[in-house]
Amino acid sequence: MFVDLLLGLQWGDEGKGKIVDAISKNYSIISRFQGGPNAGHTIKFGSKTHILHTIPSGIFHKNLVNVIGNGVVIDPIIFRHEILNLDKNDINFKQSLLISKKAHLIIPTHCLLDKASEISKGVKKIGSTLKGIGPTYMDKTGRNGIRVGDLLQDGWKKQYFKLRDKHLKIINNLNVDLSFDLEKLEGKFFNSIRFLRNFSFIDSEIYLNDSLKEGKRVLAEGAQGSMLDIDFGTYPFVTSSNTTAAGACNGLGIPPNKMKKVIGVFKAYTTRVGSGPFPSEIFDEIGEKISKVGNEFGATTGRPRRCGWLDLVSLKYAVDINGVSELAMMKSDVMSGISKIKICTSYKINGKETTRMPFSLDKKNLTPIYKEFKGWNEDLTNIKYESQLPSNLNNYISFIEEKLGIPIKIISLGPKRNQTIYK
Ligand code: GDP
Ligand code: IMO
Ligand code: MG
Repeated sequence: MFVDLLLGLQWGDEGKGKIVDAISKNYSIISRFQGGPNAGHTIKFGSKTHILHTIPSGIFHKNLVNVIGNGVVIDPIIFRHEILNLDKNDINFKQSLLISKKAHLIIPTHCLLDKASEISKGVKKIGSTLKGIGPTYMDKTGRNGIRVGDLLQDGWKKQYFKLRDKHLKIINNLNVDLSFDLEKLEGKFFNSIRFLRNFSFIDSEIYLNDSLKEGKRVLAEGAQGSMLDIDFGTYPFVTSSNTTAAGACNGLGIPPNKMKKVIGVFKAYTTRVGSGPFPSEIFDEIGEKISKVGNEFGATTGRPRRCGWLDLVSLKYAVDINGVSELAMMKSDVMSGISKIKICTSYKINGKETTRMPFSLDKKNLTPIYKEFKGWNEDLTNIKYESQLPSNLNNYISFIEEKLGIPIKIISLGPKRNQTIYK
C-alpha cells in the first residue's frame, strides 16, 4: 500500500483541514508530518467549528487512527487545551490518537525566545505566530531538544532545566523588553506533561511502515504551505520546517517510493499572514471584500490575513517541487460578485518577464503581470454538481489546469464537509 500526501501550495490556510476531514473516510490512518501549533486547521460540520493545531484532521472519524509524526513539534499546554476542547465530542483518544516518541517538545522558554527574537528584529520581524516553532526546531537540529520519548526516561527534567537555563541566557543577551512569569508557565507546563503521559507514545515510523505492509491506507497531512517552506519558501519569512512533499518522508519515516498521490490544496485567490513579500497582494476594496467574505483571519492568532490574486508563478513552482498529482481548489465562492478577476501569470523583474520563481521576490524590482477574467455572480455555496458551475468559473478553472498541467479534482464551495465537489 501507498501513502497519499495532502499539502498547502501557497502561504498556508488554504483549507487543508477541511479537505483532510472530507476525504478521511478513504483512509485508515491520518498522520501530521511537520509543524506544530502554529497551524490552525478549521473543520466545520453540523453547527460546529473546530480548530486543530497539533491533532490530525481525521480525528472526527470513528475507526480511524491519527498519528502525530516525528516531524511535528508539540506544545503540551496547547495540546491539553486542544484535547479538552474535543473531549465533548465523544472521541476515544486512547485508540484514535498516537504520538511519535521522536516528536520534539516545545517548552515555555521556546515561546519566550520566539518573542524575544521577534522583538529584537524590529521592523524586520518574521510575523511569527510566537508558538516557539523556530527555537524548537533550532534545538532539534542543534541536538539539544527534548523528545516525547524522553519523558519515559529518568532524568528528562535535568535535560529540561539545562535547556531552559540556556534559553534564559540567550533571552538575557538579547536585551529586549520582555516580561514573563516563568514559575506560572512552568506550573502549566508540568501539569500538561502529566496530561500528555496519558496518551500512547509509539515508534511511529515502525507503526506506519508495518501498517502499509498490512494493506492500510495512510494520508499524510501537511501544515503551513509550500511558500513557507524553510528551503523553498520566501526565506527568511518562512516557518522552520519542510512543508513540502519531502518533509513527509522525514516527518513520518516513510520512504519516497511509498508515496503515491500528492494532493495540492490552494485557494482560488491568495492569502498570507505575517510579514514577507506577496507580489499579487491587493490593497483596494476588492482585497477588503475578499477578506470580509472569506473571513480571512488567522485560525491560530486571529490576525487579519493579507489577500491577493491567484499567483500562478508561485503555484507552478509549488506544483513542481511537490510533484503534485491533483489539485483541490478552495473558496471560489468567496469571489462571487467580483466583476473582473485577475490571475498573476508572470513577473517582470528589472524589465524582464519571467514565469520562473526568482531567488528574491523583492517588491522594488518586481511587477506582477496579470491576465483578466470575467467574474461570476452566482451564489456557489449550494452547488452540488460540477455541471451547475457558472461558465465563467469553468473558464477560470480550465485556465489554471492548463497552465499547471494537472487536474483540479476537488472544488470546495464553502467551509462545510458537504460543500465539496469531486470531479
Ligand atoms: P488550513 O490551515 O489550510 O486548514 O486552513 P484554515 O482552516 O486556516 O483556513 C481556511 C478557512 O477557510 C477556514 O475558516 C475554513 O472553514 C474556510 N474554508 C475552507 N474551505 C472553504 C471554501 O471552499 N469556502 C469558504 N467560504 N470557506 C472555506
Ligand atoms: P496552517 O497549517 C498560515 C506563518 C506565520 C509567519 C511565518 C512563521 O494553518 O496553514 P512561525 O510561527 O512558524 O514561526 O511563523 O509562518 N505561519 C502560517 N501562516 N498558516 C499557517 O499554518 C502558518 N504557520 C505559520 O504567520 O508568517
Ligand atoms: Mg490555518
